[in-house]
Amino acid sequence: MAVIFHEATRTFHLFNKEISYIIRIMENDQLENLYYGKRITDKEDFTYLHEEGMRSQMSVCVPEPGVLSMHYTKQEYPVYGTGDYRSPAFTVLQENGSSIVNYIYFSHEIFEGKKPLAGLPATYVEEASEAQSLEIRLRDSVTEADLILSYTIYADAPVIARNARFVHMGEAPVRLERAMSASVELPDMDYEMIHLSGAWSRERYVKTRKLEMGIQAVQGLCGTCGGAEHNPFLALKRPCTTENSGEVYGFSLVYSGNFLAQVEVSTFEFTRVMLGIHPEGFSWELKTGEEFQTPEVVMVYSDQGLNGMSQVFHRLYRTRLARGKWRDQPRPVLLNNWEATYFDFDEAKILRIAEKAREVGVELFVLDDGWFGARNDDYRGLGDWYANRTKLPEGIAGLSRKIEAMGMKFGLWVELEMVNKDSDLYRAHPDWILSVPGRFETHARHQHVLDYSRPEVVDYIYEKIGSLIEESSISYIKWDMNRYMTEPYCKTALPGEQGKTMHRYILGLYDLYDRLTRRFPEILFESCASGGARFDPGLLFYAPQAWCSDDTDGAERVKIQYGTSLVYPVVSMGAHVSAVPNEQLFRTTPLDTRANVACFGAFGYELDLNLLREDELKEVKRQVEFMKKYRRLIQIDSDFYRLISPFEGNDAAWIAISRDKKQAVAVFYQKLNRVNASWLRLRLAGLDPDRLYQVTWGEQSRQAHGDELMYAGIPIDRGYLTEKGGDFASIMFILKEV
Ligand code: DGJ
Repeated sequence: MAVIFHEATRTFHLFNKEISYIIRIMENDQLENLYYGKRITDKEDFTYLHEEGMRSQMSVCVPEPGVLSMHYTKQEYPVYGTGDYRSPAFTVLQENGSSIVNYIYFSHEIFEGKKPLAGLPATYVEEASEAQSLEIRLRDSVTEADLILSYTIYADAPVIARNARFVHMGEAPVRLERAMSASVELPDMDYEMIHLSGAWSRERYVKTRKLEMGIQAVQGLCGTCGGAEHNPFLALKRPCTTENSGEVYGFSLVYSGNFLAQVEVSTFEFTRVMLGIHPEGFSWELKTGEEFQTPEVVMVYSDQGLNGMSQVFHRLYRTRLARGKWRDQPRPVLLNNWEATYFDFDEAKILRIAEKAREVGVELFVLDDGWFGARNDDYRGLGDWYANRTKLPEGIAGLSRKIEAMGMKFGLWVELEMVNKDSDLYRAHPDWILSVPGRFETHARHQHVLDYSRPEVVDYIYEKIGSLIEESSISYIKWDMNRYMTEPYCKTALPGEQGKTMHRYILGLYDLYDRLTRRFPEILFESCASGGARFDPGLLFYAPQAWCSDDTDGAERVKIQYGTSLVYPVVSMGAHVSAVPNEQLFRTTPLDTRANVACFGAFGYELDLNLLREDELKEVKRQVEFMKKYRRLIQIDSDFYRLISPFEGNDAAWIAISRDKKQAVAVFYQKLNRVNASWLRLRLAGLDPDRLYQVTWGEQSRQAHGDELMYAGIPIDRGYLTEKGGDFASIMFILKEV
């Protein structure tokens, strides 16, 4: 890996074994992107990659006879107003009303390792030798402001992490109206854009569309990233790229607030990609000496298909974004009471459910919503973080100790960013919610959003929840967030500062997460938002797992987890076996399938096991034993390959293969059963072609080499799927080297 500056041609080349990224300082001292993709041999001069020539209607930004025009140049971090008519990466409004700036090369620094981002989550290194970084300082002499573009290239992964920082030194204040984290330009438009989009209970479906001239984008404006609707991710793949071959560029924003992920194709067929904080509602004044730091964008290039890209994201996010004690540890098998009781419980009922969970080998009991204040339904109580003594006479301290005495750990649900108007907290601080005085306060699930842009609000919640955790025995926290944000207005901020509110909220949220995770380093945090409405890389920095979706139906979960796996590692996906008929879809799927899906995640149960038949309980016990035996392999020590997409037909399949390729667990899932069906031929991927494996499914077992399993496949009589339950049946395959 290296970051090299070629003085004579003023060219930066960032490269490792797999990728190259080349930037040049042009004749007007602005930056141009010459190349991003598969690694190319380093040399002094790549200037021939600059495309320039006279065109009619061209606006030229250098003195004559030069013909440099920004509209036809692949820029590194473009600005609007000097001849480029595409969307800019940033806008700096000045006191005279102009937003014309000219940031030109001033200096640069190359160093080992990677710097953290102030107040923001970001990927990191453990040893400086894991990565090299480049910071290019650009300066606008009129506003007296610097713009620092940062790049980190990892030594052993096709990853470049980027961010931008604005440092204002001038006397007159300026206002950032747009500040993307990164912009990249590719020289053609022969790509398909992939994004993860959906809604509550169908989060992160894989969507693919051909690029067309003009703008195509996904965005989040609901305050919690893109909510359940859009994930802060997009990929550009060649039309011929498959799961296991072909080129793909992945872009993922490490942020939890409003975002824009946009691709703009010019009519000259350049493709410009940019990601960052959404400019809508964003406006950040910078006075002398002040800075603005954008969140990080992680860019992954793979020429080994979508699985290649995903595996890079998985490894990076699992080991160099997630942190703390739980980062490298398999996750406890848990039971959560939400779908078992909703709000209707008392301590005796909880203990009965917990006792059954203990009997089958569950390790962590999680008490969900409904334990605090007057919380007997979702109209009241949020904000009052003390136990409801009618339900729990000895409080959380008492209950948690009883659960521990049974031999399990205790986990607790909280929703720390919210308040119901019917709560002691709201009655004491009605001005603490995001809302505009004199205007209607939009509500959702009967609740309102606490204004986390105000440090005193964050401090109060920190104190309250900190003491509760301190006095109880809590090993896990599920941090929920059940509504989107509206009326983003901070009552204590000046009128000119209101454009900072949404981003300050996210900084406040990160601050609270940071303080709590530092104070309680043993606790496993799981983020959640009405299911999977805030599944983003930003939160993975604090909480190494997230609840994937409120949809716990076995078949639907295949789609949700399949889509999520494009970016996020298996271990980060909270996945539970729930009762049938399913609460969201009223569908009945085999118990076996529900577990076969959930075991590719942070595994647990979400039902009252007392209501199961004896044979079902036996099956649950077997599932828990299986998970304990295989969780290290599936969650930590393996690479994950998607095999068959549930978005393309009746079937789906995936496999987790140990890094030494000696073991694997694969699952095939079907939706509807077929009558008099042909045989199924399941072709695996990622195995060592020369190794001999013992493949076992159900009572059946056979030996085959990796190449046979990948190219010839495993023939399976579909009649076996009828035996396994018919509709929504699944088959798990265990592979071991002979
Ligand atoms: C939404 C979550 O996704 C559920 O799992 C549950 O915790 C409820 N909130 C509780 O209100």
